[in-house]
Amino acid sequence: MSAIPATADELAAGLRDAGYLPGDSTALVSFLAARLGKPVLVEGPAGVGKTELAKALSRSLDRRLVRLQCYEGLDEAKALYEWNYRKQLLRIQAEAEGTGWDAVQDDIFGEEFLLSRPLLQAIAAEEPVVLLIDEIDKTDQEFEAMLLELLSDFQITIPELGRIEARTHPIVLLTSNNTRELTEALKRRCLYLWLDYPSTERELEIVRLHAPDLPETVAAKLVQVIAQVRELDLKKPPSIAESIDWARALLLLGADDISQDVFRDTMSIIVKHRTDLDTVADRVGVRLGSPAAR
Ligand SMILES: Nc1ncnc2c1ncn2[C@@H]1O[C@H](COP(=O)(O)OP(=O)(O)O)[C@@H](O)[C@H]1O
Ligand SMILES: [Mg+2]
Repeated sequence: MSAIPATADELAAGLRDAGYLPGDSTALVSFLAARLGKPVLVEGPAGVGKTELAKALSRSLDRRLVRLQCYEGLDEAKALYEWNYRKQLLRIQAEAEGTGWDAVQDDIFGEEFLLSRPLLQAIAAEEPVVLLIDEIDKTDQEFEAMLLELLSDFQITIPELGRIEARTHPIVLLTSNNTRELTEALKRRCLYLWLDYPSTERELEIVRLHAPDLPETVAAKLVQVIAQVRELDLKKPPSIAESIDWARALLLLGADDISQDVFRDTMSIIVKHRTDLDTVADRVGVRLGSPAAR
């Protein structure tokens, strides 16, 4: 495990070494979060590097990543802890007949019978971890309320066992694709980072990082085309993930230019709605020009 960097620039350099190219505000907010011990809420469209930021932080700080993937209906038993009923039952059966309830109870509500889920694991870890609570907007408000307690006190109370306080302070990232408004109470406790589509310069850098063998001219044209496509009013604009996929596909196909033909054949990699495909073919495909016209 390495120490938290002394400056935001140092943290940015660490992220780059870990294969993540952060914008200025990303580096600054991550730095403040690590230093102040505050959780960060990272919001933005899908595929702009929210999840990857947490992974890269864990790599660059050499801390274990503990990930809680949220989904509709996620409850405490899957997020915090639950009792291992089967093991408890086996123990009860193994107890000598005539053992009093008190003795049995003392036995079966010990740590040995606890199944710890990501939030408890992060709290109980001996070494500080990076805790990623991914896609929090998929859960409901009750779950958010439960999280609030954890995020403000860094402790969990288990009725049968008592209070478990954090031994070490995790760096906490919550991500949201913005599908619902999160509560003010949650936002108050967090630093806020809005991640958007990157500038063409940074996206070029990211694409080159993930597909280093793609000719520079093709990569440059790719990010320009992607930027044009994002300007259209689409159901689902292409994200960085799609830019990277497209770059890898073009590399595999040995494309040395993005001509109209190449674009038509591969655009389904970056646009994935029937109506979007039509819009993009009309507005961008035509602009690239036919091979004969070049
Ligand atoms: N700043 C960045 N530097 C390097 N790779 C990035 C960056 N932003 C996004 N990526 C890449 O884009 C892809 C999508 O990122 P991801 O974190 O899964 O998006 P999100 O969680 O926002 O939906 C990943 O493969 C990731 O490696
Ligand atoms: Mg994600």
